[in-house]
Amino acid sequence: MTDESALFAAAAAVVAVPLAARRLRLSFAKHPSLAGHGRMASWLARRLPGYRYDDARFFGVDGAPAEIAGRRRAALRRLGDTLRERSPLTLAATAEARQGLSDLQFTSAYRVPFQFVPVLREHLAVGSFWARSEGAELVDLDGNRCIDLTGSYGVNVFGNDFYKSCIDEGWARTRDLGTVLGGYHPVMLQNIRKLKELSGLDEVSFHMSGTEAVMQAVRLARYHTGRKRIVRFCGAYHGWWGEVQPGPGNPVPTRDTFTLRDMHARTLGILRSRKDIACVLVNPLQGLHPNSPAPGDSGLLDSGRCAGFNREAYTAWLRELREVCTERGIVLIFDEVFVGFRIAPGGAQEYFGVQADMVTWGKTLGGGLPVGVVCGKAALMRRYRDDHPADICFARGTFNSHPAVMGAMGVFLERLDTAAVRAAYDGLEERWNGRVAAFNARMKQSGFPLHAANLSSIWTLFYTAPSRYNWMLQFYLREQGLALSWVGTGRLIFPIDMDDATFATVLDRVAAACGRMKADGWWWEGASESNRDIRRSILREALFGA
Ligand SMILES: Cc1ncc(COP(=O)(O)O)c(C=O)c1O
Repeated sequence: MTDESALFAAAAAVVAVPLAARRLRLSFAKHPSLAGHGRMASWLARRLPGYRYDDARFFGVDGAPAEIAGRRRAALRRLGDTLRERSPLTLAATAEARQGLSDLQFTSAYRVPFQFVPVLREHLAVGSFWARSEGAELVDLDGNRCIDLTGSYGVNVFGNDFYKSCIDEGWARTRDLGTVLGGYHPVMLQNIRKLKELSGLDEVSFHMSGTEAVMQAVRLARYHTGRKRIVRFCGAYHGWWGEVQPGPGNPVPTRDTFTLRDMHARTLGILRSRKDIACVLVNPLQGLHPNSPAPGDSGLLDSGRCAGFNREAYTAWLRELREVCTERGIVLIFDEVFVGFRIAPGGAQEYFGVQADMVTWGKTLGGGLPVGVVCGKAALMRRYRDDHPADICFARGTFNSHPAVMGAMGVFLERLDTAAVRAAYDGLEERWNGRVAAFNARMKQSGFPLHAANLSSIWTLFYTAPSRYNWMLQFYLREQGLALSWVGTGRLIFPIDMDDATFATVLDRVAAACGRMKADGWWWEGASESNRDIRRSILREALFGA
């Protein structure tokens, strides 16, 4: 080697070694699961072959004997017949809509693990139409009543009737202005005042959805810090904007998003050591299942799903994040689109006692109408610079601040201060923790392999014995008159003020559904597979065919 090339090699090493070390440190701060490696997960998702179970596999994929498989076959037929006979109009509307409604095609294809979809579809259909809501119930087009545990994607914090009246009252206040956009109805003043008070932050901006609120918060964080990277935590949902969804689901790879481990010291190390991070996005719902995505039943291939909320540990984590973000000039954003107003009137900031730099709200805050809101410190919310007037941070949206939405929001915010709503927050945590405890005691006593974990009124169910068929429970629950959203038993969302009698009915119905599910052989106890065995055998199927 000449002197020159030796010098060149040494210089290259001086540059490359720290870069490699930096890269390695980042890799170690990612969660080791696929959910922590979005690009790899997308790569695999594109290659995972589709396959289906035939009739024999569908009923006996766990090696159940013919008698059990036969029981399951008869049960599926009976369940299918019952749901079909009960709801002809609802199912006809659902079938017709599926022809032209891509959203419904997607949700109905992802209610259960994909291997089971074709046979299941031959036997069983679930309606997606409702004629009305009444109190705690939804009524389908055939008059069947179900207790509503869908939660309207989280919007429904106070019961469906509450939102109907927010909308009616709000529109009554603003209809004289009608749909004039660009100018504001005076109700806006009251909304700004109240949101500033609740958030403890200086300014507010209105958007049309939670996704847009997140986009705007991140855009502002980048604008003011001059940095481009954003940190989100493994498994966390922040809407469907590409940059906060770096894995499967987003066809465009994103390089500026780091998906790091939740509640982990290595993440703090990254935040402390890098200079290119604009913001950290926190969805406090992840406290219930850190590092895991929202638990849908389409992923219930085994009984490995688990969850559990530790308020103390998660609070300590948020405090650490607050500290490191302050230290490093990183914008701490609480994305409270889901949990805001559900866990405390002042949202996650109040509940955990940690002040963020920006907060996003949405869902329930619109009083039943679509909305997204960003609250932030004045210095972060500003969209222009006096010293460089052409350097702006643009954000618009035709329907933001729509008078009807502002009106319903005004009513919603006013009601937060009423005695009735304050009473719903009194003892909220204890009430819902007590209900989870009662639920779990009942399941255990009855010998059902079902367990609930909760963050206040947001529940997730998981399964305590290995099984391939847990996803069937959602259909038994529907038969018993409980309506779940299309993600099934991974997320039950209760109105926070559900009364004791309705909750007791829910509990009885879940127990009845479990009783039937067990009697029908889906939780057959002779299966010797562990969760790991199940996962291995599915991997084999994917590689070599079912
Ligand atoms: C935490 C969080 N952020 C953002 C969003 C996106 O909100 P939207 O569906 O209104 O766009 C959601 C939606 O579920 C959410 O839960």
